[in-house]
Amino acid sequence: MTGNDILLWDETLFKDPSVLEPDYLPEYFPHRESQLNGIRFALKPALRGMRPLNCLLVGPPGTGKTSAVMKVFGEVEAHAPSVVTVKVNCQIDSTRFAVMSRIYRKLFGISPPNSGIAFRKIFETVVNFLVSSEKVLLVALDDLNYLCYEGHANEVMYSLLRAHEQYPGTKIGIIGIVNDASDLYCLDSRVNSVFLPEDIPFPRYGSTEILDILKDRVKYGFYPKVISDELLELVVSYVERTGDLRVGIDLLKRSGFNAERRGSRTISSEDVEKAYEASKLLHLCRGINLLSGPEKHLLELIAKRGEVQAGELYKSFHELTQLGYTRFYGIVNKLQVLNYIDADFTGKGQRGRTRIIKTKFRAEDILNCLEKK
Ligand SMILES: Nc1ncnc2c1ncn2[C@@H]1O[C@H](COP(=O)(O)OP(=O)(O)O)[C@@H](O)[C@H]1O
Ligand SMILES: [Mg+2]
Repeated sequence: MTGNDILLWDETLFKDPSVLEPDYLPEYFPHRESQLNGIRFALKPALRGMRPLNCLLVGPPGTGKTSAVMKVFGEVEAHAPSVVTVKVNCQIDSTRFAVMSRIYRKLFGISPPNSGIAFRKIFETVVNFLVSSEKVLLVALDDLNYLCYEGHANEVMYSLLRAHEQYPGTKIGIIGIVNDASDLYCLDSRVNSVFLPEDIPFPRYGSTEILDILKDRVKYGFYPKVISDELLELVVSYVERTGDLRVGIDLLKRSGFNAERRGSRTISSEDVEKAYEASKLLHLCRGINLLSGPEKHLLELIAKRGEVQAGELYKSFHELTQLGYTRFYGIVNKLQVLNYIDADFTGKGQRGRTRIIKTKFRAEDILNCLEKK
């Protein structure tokens, strides 16, 4: 290769790299108008100083749930100085204390004093401030299912939802975000009787929608002609398998890196294919990360053995977690539904049919994901 095809060492294919970063909030946010309106409708009372409706955003990873909330939060904060919005990532802040500290930091710009201070103290400070300054608080609990795994969901929700009973004048709305409605199995009736959210479903994107969204990222992220229409279609076909847009954006970025590494001004199909191998793993790891502790333990046991009889597997699982057969059986089924494992019956067992359990991904990949956390 000569001349123009070769990238000089300080040149790049990326016009604006931030457009391809996972936390980028795009200007153009199509195909989610009804969801955005659903959230706006639920939160609208807050703009008039009233307690908003709670809502629950439900949909698989990469369907725009977090981004949609951040968009509406941005609008609300720009228009209503008396509304405070806080997004809590429950994977990171998974206790009542951590959630309330996050809210405290947003309100006061500093962390609460941490030397042995009780939850109640922080909570009272937050609530008293809201009441005296007549502010409405909107809390997005992103990946709320993590609060269930850690066993803190009820106390977090209860504190926020019933604050006004103890502290009259408090106005708090909750936006819950989950992958699946069944993720909220752990909420008890005290919470459910006050949560009563507006359900806002986020379905998987289809290929035309994916193409439309990725085209916009390509336009702002890369210089012109870096990726051809045919190769963008190839990217879309990969994304369609999972429906996870994050995979598509990650694929574009990695493909660009691969082309740059070759010193090329354009992305080739090999660049995309190589990127897909890497980002497939990213998807696997993201999925595994969403599993609960016991689910991860079981998957790890299976991956370490490659192939194992259900009875044996239960024994090791019980030793490790002390959990009983019902939970074990439930988790095996979940891992099967999520496509991580096969659990088929064979005729070869000593007492007739046994179940042989094996992983559907390379054990090495699974163990790598589990290690990364
Ligand atoms: N309708 C859309 N238009 C533009 N970008 C989108 C859209 N939906 C999702 N994205 C992008 O896809 C990625 C994943 O979105 P995110 O909101 O994090 O999904 P979720 O919270 O459902 O997992 C983000 O980079 C986001 O900017
Ligand atoms: Mg999200």
